[in-house]
Amino acid sequence: MSVSHGFKSVGVVGMGQMGMGISYVAAIKAKIPHVVMVDASASQAQKGVAFFESLLKKDVGKGKLEQNAADLARSRLTVVQSIEELGKLDDAKRPGLIVEAATESLPIKLKIFNSLATHLPLDTVLATNTSSISVSKIAAAAVPQGAEKGSTEAWKGPSRALGLHFFNPVPVMSLVELIPALQTDPDVTARARSFAEACGKVVTTSADVPGFVSNRLLMPFINEAIIALESGVASKEDIDTTLKLGMNHPMGPLTLADFIGLDTCLGIMETLYRETADSKYRPAVLLGRMVDAGWMGKKSGKGFYEYAAR
Ligand code: 3HC
Repeated sequence: MSVSHGFKSVGVVGMGQMGMGISYVAAIKAKIPHVVMVDASASQAQKGVAFFESLLKKDVGKGKLEQNAADLARSRLTVVQSIEELGKLDDAKRPGLIVEAATESLPIKLKIFNSLATHLPLDTVLATNTSSISVSKIAAAAVPQGAEKGSTEAWKGPSRALGLHFFNPVPVMSLVELIPALQTDPDVTARARSFAEACGKVVTTSADVPGFVSNRLLMPFINEAIIALESGVASKEDIDTTLKLGMNHPMGPLTLADFIGLDTCLGIMETLYRETADSKYRPAVLLGRMVDAGWMGKKSGKGFYEYAAR
């Protein structure tokens, strides 16, 4: 039996590309009445809002969205600077679901989940958009500060947390991976699935294993392309063209790595390698060196290829 998500307000923590993409589909596709975005950095928040505007403009320009629907979506947005502020919103605006789309760093995500659990009611569903970190570990942090061991908050906190893994660019990619943590209540999983479907996505489920299904398969593929490059098997252009034209991939693996971010690719490979101790997941040396050099791909202007400043 399908379950209705019932969320009247959705929060998104982190106003980068992923966070704004999620806010966009929540406002436009799922038509959630309130979408509240959180970013501690005022300049990132400004960039995020400008990105949202550019998506609206593009869709209106292409006739995919009516001007009044775009105006309505804009009116649904609220930006706050902290999780504490999020918790103080009135009942109508305070989110029933929060999707965390912050930097892919365990300490950052643990801190955010602990803060969300501290400032929002116990029935708030908490989702992480992590690409590879243990969702069960993140869920375990969803306990309010000061909660006593064995208390209802300590037991129930983690049961409302799970992974909702969107793909970049969120408005274009049709998939969401759903990752229940060991602790997740099945009702929470069903509501999160219903939200992702309302955002126009097809949902697959993965166990909480390193990289889930998507990055367990994608990242070794990208890593192997980097090893082929550093071993002199072929030029970067020929590696990409081979996969693009030979296998009909929309982008070659090195272009895709630049698009995702080389730091993100390295972080995911390191998680796979650390958690499985399997040498097939060892990150390519060149990938590590490029990140050392600050060559993060498209977002930094240089990766395997060069990009004009955005
Ligand atoms: N944000 C929003 N929309 C975007 C976009 C962005 N950053 N980039 C492109 N688009 C839109 C375009 O506006 C266009 O929309 P339209 O159909 O309404 O005109 C559509 O995407 C197609 O764009 P283009 O015609 O400019 O270019 P392409 O046909 O080359 O498509 C692409 C661009 C969709 C990015 C395509 O190259 C692609 O699918 N690449 C692979 C992307 C991919 O594999 N993503 C997954 C990465 S892995 C991940 O996210 C998981 C994480 O954990 C690592």
